[in-house]
Amino acid sequence: MRKKVIAGNWKMNKTIAEANQFVDDVVNSIPADDRVEAIVCAPFPFLVSLVEKTKGTNLKVSAQNMHFEENGAFTGEVSPVMLKDLGVTHVVLGHSERREYFAETDETVNKKTHAAFAHGLTPIVCVGETLEQREANETMSLVETQVKKALEGLSNEQVTKTIIAYEPVWAIGTGKTASSEDANEVCAHIRKVVKSVTDEATSEAVVIQYGGSVKPANVDELLAQSDIDGALVGGASLEADSFLQLVEAGA
Ligand code: G3P
Repeated sequence: MRKKVIAGNWKMNKTIAEANQFVDDVVNSIPADDRVEAIVCAPFPFLVSLVEKTKGTNLKVSAQNMHFEENGAFTGEVSPVMLKDLGVTHVVLGHSERREYFAETDETVNKKTHAAFAHGLTPIVCVGETLEQREANETMSLVETQVKKALEGLSNEQVTKTIIAYEPVWAIGTGKTASSEDANEVCAHIRKVVKSVTDEATSEAVVIQYGGSVKPANVDELLAQSDIDGALVGGASLEADSFLQLVEAGA
């Protein structure tokens, strides 16, 4: 039985005081439960403080991006070595906002996925189609390409540990959620793609999240689907109450 992974992606929101307050408000209510894992994906400046605050608790801390190089002349970038050194456990890679605004490609996502594993970080790899691609019936082939390229060269053991987040771009921050059946169909397809490049056991173990306007009102239905193992949540993860409701839904 796969565990449910609920990750709150704060994107470029909150001050350090608000971030600390959020963690103070939720941290003791995150269940020690094999069935659910809770993660906050915070902006870089908050990571030191949040890792400190969550030590010994059930709340994990993720970065929202990183470079694939270990160090060097890359002004403004943050390396996997730095994240690991801080005690960060996860990193979001290839979010559609990074692909759209910061020239992230399948190739850089693949390099970053390898770098994450090389430094003991768990990658949350995002894939998903735009509205135009969905209307042109390209969803399945597009996510297939994104997943295959992101996972290229990983061992089956590494793929097992990878979290894949299916986030249709048209559902992000729009209030439009993919119907739970449509979301599940794509997540099931992703599992088949994983199987085609690894094996049955690996594809059955890999965690596949859905993301795109997930909120307490629709999370139960989404998590009840056969191939949706969690949620990557933006807007509804910003308030402590709502984040806790989402985590409880996974427990
Ligand atoms: O990474 C989470 C995300 O892009 C979804 O955002 O605000 O639609 O939940 P939101």
